[in-house]
Amino acid sequence: MALLVFAISCNTKQQSRNNDKVQTEKDPHTFAEPDKAVVKHLDLDIKVNFDTKQITGKASWSINNPAKTEQIIFDTKLLDIKKVTVGADEKETKFSLGTLDSILGKPLSIDITAEDTLVHIYYITSRDAGALQWLEPQQTSGKKLPFLFTQSQPILARSWVPSQDGPGIRFTYNATVSVPEDLLAVMSAENPQQKNADGVYQFKQTHPIPSYLLALAVGDMEFKSIDERTGVYAEPAMLEKAAWEFADMGKMVTAAEKMYGPYRWGRYDVLVLPPSFPYGGMENPNLTFATPTVIAGDRSLVGLVAHELAHSWSGNLVTNATWNDMWLNEGFTVYFEKRIIEALYGKEEAKMQEVLSRQGLNDVVKEKGDMSKDTKLKGDYKRRDPEEAINDIVYEKGYAFLQTIEQTVGRATLDTFLKNYFNTYAFQSHTTEQFVDHLNKELIKNDKALADKIMVDEWVYGPGIPKNIPASVSENFKRIDNTIANLRTAPVTGLNRQIKSTNELLYFISHLPADLTAEEMALLDKEFKFTQSGNSEVQSAWFTLAIRHQYKPAYHSIEKFLTEVGRRKFLRPLYGEMIKTSEGKVWAKQIYAKARANYHPVSYTTIDELLK
Ligand code: BES
Ligand code: ZN
Repeated sequence: MALLVFAISCNTKQQSRNNDKVQTEKDPHTFAEPDKAVVKHLDLDIKVNFDTKQITGKASWSINNPAKTEQIIFDTKLLDIKKVTVGADEKETKFSLGTLDSILGKPLSIDITAEDTLVHIYYITSRDAGALQWLEPQQTSGKKLPFLFTQSQPILARSWVPSQDGPGIRFTYNATVSVPEDLLAVMSAENPQQKNADGVYQFKQTHPIPSYLLALAVGDMEFKSIDERTGVYAEPAMLEKAAWEFADMGKMVTAAEKMYGPYRWGRYDVLVLPPSFPYGGMENPNLTFATPTVIAGDRSLVGLVAHELAHSWSGNLVTNATWNDMWLNEGFTVYFEKRIIEALYGKEEAKMQEVLSRQGLNDVVKEKGDMSKDTKLKGDYKRRDPEEAINDIVYEKGYAFLQTIEQTVGRATLDTFLKNYFNTYAFQSHTTEQFVDHLNKELIKNDKALADKIMVDEWVYGPGIPKNIPASVSENFKRIDNTIANLRTAPVTGLNRQIKSTNELLYFISHLPADLTAEEMALLDKEFKFTQSGNSEVQSAWFTLAIRHQYKPAYHSIEKFLTEVGRRKFLRPLYGEMIKTSEGKVWAKQIYAKARANYHPVSYTTIDELLK
């Protein structure tokens, strides 16, 4: 054992030294060369065409060209570039698209002179644009009007706007978006609260943001205010429910500000999208995009709003420089999210969510193997799709690292450090190495004993879970452990009065014996009505068991869930469980044949791969 520890620590020292080089290495997921010529501001002028399912228009980029280079490079994916002009007088210039990379798309190289400060790109998006989902009226709750929304993170902005599409490059933007007259358009910017007569909407984002935070939604939406600076947008049928569910948004912003300094973006609103939205939430500045599957009717899943709000500091204000540093965005945000939950709903609620997080970490490390390089916080996704980086390593291991620092230095010290970190690097991008450097300077300050306690290198550059991870315990869950230990000898009746909250139910379901029989599943279902649950997290946990134990009474509900919901976090485990048996595989393919048309490209690309 001693030998092994020695080997690991040697290994991580070496890696951290190697990583010093990585610092100056360029972002592997953009063709742009920002050291030569870089964008500063975007004027976007586009028209959204629901008949052809295309966006057409012009992206006018103000640029800086300190190197006086004769070419500026943008990222594109499946874009049809019609024409490129330069300057206020729009003189036509030469451009060329490079060879296609299946992950990155094509570089767009534009001829410029040292004096040029403005480049206009005329383009049309593809019907297969990875960022865009065009919904037919039947796929909305109103059933009468179509809907469009974008998802740009991590590298899909380039499929709807020719851009220097790396998180290390920031710009401000204005946009003019023209849409059918009966629809409202909203963006990651200052937003209208009402439809106007001509269907032309103007937007302004005055803070510099990276391209992955470009966002647009167009549909039959209405706005309802929650307090002076927060509110919700949704389809009319969802609006009241959404406003009720998210009633605490304003309190969340205030709690967050108390910890890490002022909210700098103006308004904070949430847009509740149709159920095909592929993520739980997306932290688009000023306007979080959210799945309707968090509207549980009891506010039990509002941690998602706390999470996306927290990104207004960790992510949108201080941004990961490349997708290899994604833990800087997501790990910090999970930590911050839990702190907001604790401030609003108390310690025990936060504790339960912490334990569930930890379960996620243990599971992902088990799945990848504790020596796997993909369990390191600093990722290595060069020549891979950065989509692969979206897993519980960046979220839950990142979070556990901050918990470790908190436990070592105390909460007050960590809070001062973080507040200072957000202020010092506001509106800048940051690599893992820069963060470690800042941590050493501002928090560890050459205190050797403290450094040994925190074990920064092991956490950041080493695989698996370092041994100094703090214990995570919930008293409520201990009670459930007891119940589960006696499950087969005590009556099930009455348990639904002891195990009630969403957290408790999720813990209970995930700790049930591995060898449940279909009869036992039926007994539990009778007691808890899991199959009929209106809570998407409970449904997805229960449905996974139902597939595993071939509990047929749930099959109809599973099919319904998979055809209505397009959130990848739910789809992947359910289809994944199905394909473990040969009948299951047939079933999965049957459902997918019907359901695929309802999914966003982000989700169907993943499930295509899973079922191929
Ligand atoms: N920014 C992420 C979503 C994301 C990450 C999209 C990386 C593409 C690439 C967002 O903040 C997020 O983490 N969403 C989570 C919900 C959250 C409560 C953990 C999700 O969608 O499940
Ligand atoms: Zn996040």
